[in-house]
Amino acid sequence: MSSHIRRIAVCTGGGDAPGLNAVIRAVAIAAANRGWECYGIREGFNGILFPERYPDGGVFRLTRDRVRGIGHLGGTILGTTNKGNPLHFPMKMSDGTTKDMDLSGDILAFFARKEIDALVSIGGDGSLTIANALHQKGLRVVGVPKTIDNDLDKTFTTFGFDTAVGFATECLDRLHSTAESHQRVMVVEVMGRYAGWIALHAGIAGAAQAILIPEIPFDVDKVAAKVRARDSEGRMYSIVVVAEGAEPVDGHRAILAPAEIGHAERLGGVGDRIGRALAERTGKDVRVVVLGHLLRGGSPTSFDRLAAMRFGSAAVRALDEGQSGIMVALGFPNVNYVALEEVAGRMKGVPLDSDTVQTGRDLGICFGD
Ligand code: F6P
Repeated sequence: MSSHIRRIAVCTGGGDAPGLNAVIRAVAIAAANRGWECYGIREGFNGILFPERYPDGGVFRLTRDRVRGIGHLGGTILGTTNKGNPLHFPMKMSDGTTKDMDLSGDILAFFARKEIDALVSIGGDGSLTIANALHQKGLRVVGVPKTIDNDLDKTFTTFGFDTAVGFATECLDRLHSTAESHQRVMVVEVMGRYAGWIALHAGIAGAAQAILIPEIPFDVDKVAAKVRARDSEGRMYSIVVVAEGAEPVDGHRAILAPAEIGHAERLGGVGDRIGRALAERTGKDVRVVVLGHLLRGGSPTSFDRLAAMRFGSAAVRALDEGQSGIMVALGFPNVNYVALEEVAGRMKGVPLDSDTVQTGRDLGICFGD
């Protein structure tokens, strides 16, 4: 099928993840190799909605030169936002109130006016839900799955996850020696939103003694018992990895800020709560380390870089084949395509019967249950 494409645009939305620049580079080069023009939209869709904020007008040409040497860099040269959902935009009104506005019409009008034929939208659940809505309103769209949280369905993994897990694992490796030297409990809080992938993978790879994830509500007494049991065996230190979204059996998830129009709630603080509870119950010295945004920074691993480039080039191939309303996904052995509507609004948590959880249990790791 002929694509009749002359121009495409690419945008990055939601929290940044290592590998975004590698996708942008692959998209821009694969497009140039087909004789297409490629444009970058700044900060999600803000470059289209608020061009006056940007000296270059918010949308700029992504030439080969513009994407040279960026594949190994963290962040995104386009900028990103997790406050700019154009379907639910928090518009400040003259009376001081905030109204929930749907600005998708402005985006469609921009694409028509500039004769841009298609969009590559790189993002997580929120961005892919927006991409799906734009597709349903008539825009040609291909999504690319990004997030350190690995919580997107229908893809084996998202780029950014491997880098985050690798860094968290290195941090755990470093914490073992200081924890052992001081006979302390180290509680390490990691990101992941409502999924425990980062905590689970880094916790097992980094030989933690307890891993607490949102999919398994935890009882802090069980974690304290694990710490005491180790002490009685002469292993006087413990490492507890906790996902920011982990919930106690008898309480609530720790939240730093509630959801607002166009912006999800901010999680955080569970590490401190667990640290205090373990200190009370075990009498041990406890320290809490929050890895937070460190997990989002730095250079993508070669796995994430390659996945990102495969995704970017597959997105362009999909458009060339005349496809729309799909997300490129990592399967075996090849990248494949899944309908955006099968992904939008669905979260992939850790399956409790996965062999990775089983591995943790076989190794004697406490999951707080
Ligand atoms: O989705 C990626 C992520 O890093 C989550 O793990 C975390 O909860 C959230 O984004 C943090 O967002 P912000 O950058 O707004 O603090």
